[in-house]
Amino acid sequence: MEMNVKGQEKPERGEDSLDTSLRPRTWEEYIGQEKVKNTLQIIIGAAKKRKDPLEHLLLYGNSGLGKTSLANVIAREIGSSITTCSGASLERVGDIASLLTNLAEGEVLFIDECHRLQRQAMETLYSAMEDYKLHLVIGKGPMARTMEISLPKFTLIAATTRVAVLPAPFRNRFGAVFQLSFYNQENMEEILRRSSAILGVQILPEAVSAIAQRSRFTPRVANRILKRVRDFATMEEHPVITKEAAMKTFSFLEIDDWGLEPDDRKILRAVIEKFGGGPVGIQALSALVAEEQDTILDVYEPYLLQTGLLERTPRGRIATPLAYKHLGISQKTRDLL
Ligand SMILES: Nc1ncnc2c1ncn2[C@@H]1O[C@H](COP(=O)(O)OP(=O)(O)O)[C@@H](O)[C@H]1O
Ligand SMILES: [Mg+2]
Repeated sequence: MEMNVKGQEKPERGEDSLDTSLRPRTWEEYIGQEKVKNTLQIIIGAAKKRKDPLEHLLLYGNSGLGKTSLANVIAREIGSSITTCSGASLERVGDIASLLTNLAEGEVLFIDECHRLQRQAMETLYSAMEDYKLHLVIGKGPMARTMEISLPKFTLIAATTRVAVLPAPFRNRFGAVFQLSFYNQENMEEILRRSSAILGVQILPEAVSAIAQRSRFTPRVANRILKRVRDFATMEEHPVITKEAAMKTFSFLEIDDWGLEPDDRKILRAVIEKFGGGPVGIQALSALVAEEQDTILDVYEPYLLQTGLLERTPRGRIATPLAYKHLGISQKTRDLL
């Protein structure tokens, strides 16, 4: 299946092999996010010293910023194995119960997309997180009894792109919460150099910085563009990737100087041309561009907001003057719309 460079995948989709081979395994390989790394190193160091299990951790941030990678680095750092699952796949209380009872002492349970957990499954987690106990209701009606099962001391690491929708009782049960933010140009270049080395790609510094500039400050996007650029270079028999080779790929893929792709521009244009620049509600926008609301919220909007092309107001999204400029829509046209 073809996936676009944004890594626009459904949350339940498994990781592809590119993600796995390029995934950082140690603190040294995990580039950027220094503040998060430093705080985590202290928390982990202290837990090790006290011989306590590591506290439950909540990681949030956009897709492709390194949540899954970070969970794996943490597990490796505390010398534990990691069991990974997605919130969407834990439908029944029984699913979560069997997962928990099968954990080993000290193991890390990584629940990705935790905002998709069913309410009952989430509530089952509460007592498990709090005192490593599982409370199950057996039977129905007046005959119902609760059964208590002791669990091994595990560490839950949960990840989400949507921290705001998590119920407070769930959020409050984490010892620490970390936000992964967009990377800077320097971080992106370092990530690209590392990925090129792993993929055995020879690439010039100008090509690295050209890709970094268009990678939406997101490592997964950078790696996907790098792979596409490599494909082009291979087909054209360029042993070394130059800036020109990279630029050719961008124009073929219709990635502009800011890393926007046709779908991003379609959304911006819709706000400008169909809604007079906004404000427009998410429902109306979603209907017009025929994209699911979740996709707009999780995939397109964060970067448009980050770049200042789009603004979110209480009344809806508005396109900024920067968006008009970027799309080459003049002020005059703007007033006519
Ligand atoms: N801090 C980082 N340093 C180096 N590479 C990274 C980093 N964060 C992410 N990556 C790369 O991006 C890919 C996607 O990261 P991932 O952890 O799957 O993101 P998320 O789980 O937040 O969607 C990884 O496979 C890895 O190649
Ligand atoms: Mg992930």
